Amino acid sequence: MSSWESEDALRQGERLVAAEHTEDDLEIDRTLRPRTLDEYLGQETVKASLAVLIEAARARHEPLDHVLLSGPPGLGKTTLAGVIANELGVTVRTTSGPAIERPGDLAAILTNLEERDVLFIDEIHRLNRVVEEVLYPAMEDFAIDIVIGKGPAARSLRLDLPRFTLVGATTRTGLLTSPLRDRFGMSFRLDYYAPGELAAIVRRSAAILGVRISDDGANEIARRSRGTPRLANRLLKRVRDYAQVRHDGVITEDVAAEALAFFEVDHIGLDKMDVAILQALTTTFRGRPVGLGTLAAAVGEEPDTIEDVYEPYLLQLGMLARTPKGRQATPLAFEHLGVSVPGAGSQPGLF
Ligand SMILES: Nc1ncnc2c1ncn2[C@@H]1O[C@H](COP(=O)(O)OP(=O)(O)O)[C@@H](O)[C@H]1O
Ligand SMILES: [Mg+2]
Repeated sequence: MSSWESEDALRQGERLVAAEHTEDDLEIDRTLRPRTLDEYLGQETVKASLAVLIEAARARHEPLDHVLLSGPPGLGKTTLAGVIANELGVTVRTTSGPAIERPGDLAAILTNLEERDVLFIDEIHRLNRVVEEVLYPAMEDFAIDIVIGKGPAARSLRLDLPRFTLVGATTRTGLLTSPLRDRFGMSFRLDYYAPGELAAIVRRSAAILGVRISDDGANEIARRSRGTPRLANRLLKRVRDYAQVRHDGVITEDVAAEALAFFEVDHIGLDKMDVAILQALTTTFRGRPVGLGTLAAAVGEEPDTIEDVYEPYLLQLGMLARTPKGRQATPLAFEHLGVSVPGAGSQPGLF
């Protein structure tokens, strides 16, 4: 039995959608991450705006306005931050909200920037309040106020910073404080990719990885990647392994379909957890609205992961609704699972 058929590989399969950064990803990321706007496929409106603004900033030798990028995980926020810096011809410094613990940490990062550099803060909604307050004047006036000394002898000193561009990324803009949100000159929401765009991403990745794939094979992977480039690349890698071991290495539509069924990704890209969520909503809770915590407990997943990773796609598909009383399955969810809608005739008197 080859290693990918082991229980471990299967269990990894369960985390295909939710896994944020696996070893695999780090390796694929290095090779597959687009470096330029041309290589960055899809998100055409975002790209068109950015292209103009980047060109203008470059021509004026000025820093680009601060940019806020939002959207579900795996849609290309980190990648786009790198692309922006690359197109501006500057260096990008990367950090994240939870990594900056004290104001001094942020001050150290800011004072080490070069003029016009990009500072990328991932998960910016998770900055703590004291640190966030240091960021306000830094973004607005390119300055920070530092306090020297303690007690009555303490005094505040204003320190000028290089004029930089902050690129912030968040999975949910709703979690950002409004003073922080207001300080971004532009805000872009990345949307789920269309199947055609994902197919182009799969073909590009396959070419870089030296994987032989037919157009239909790429389309099949694209259709099942829940609109997410990171997942498209992950699935491509799994399907490649499968094609190598069970077939002759070439990814055709049939090979892709067979492999994805093996990894328990259904024909519209729902994985085991998506299905578990829908099953809980349709069957356990019989279509009644249910709170996030209860739902999370029922499927054995973190509420945050459900809210950030699973729910947005199910919402987009129209299979889940957020009501004031909680999460609820829609008729489409019942239909997809082949479960009859409570009270819809087939089970009279049950509800
Ligand atoms: N527009 C795109 N075109 C091609 N590949 C992309 C695109 N966006 C993302 N990717 C791929 O998906 C992976 C995940 O993107 P990433 O920027 O890490 O997402 P996020 O930061 O939003 O979670 C990247 O490593 C990259 O290979
Ligand atoms: Mg990221």
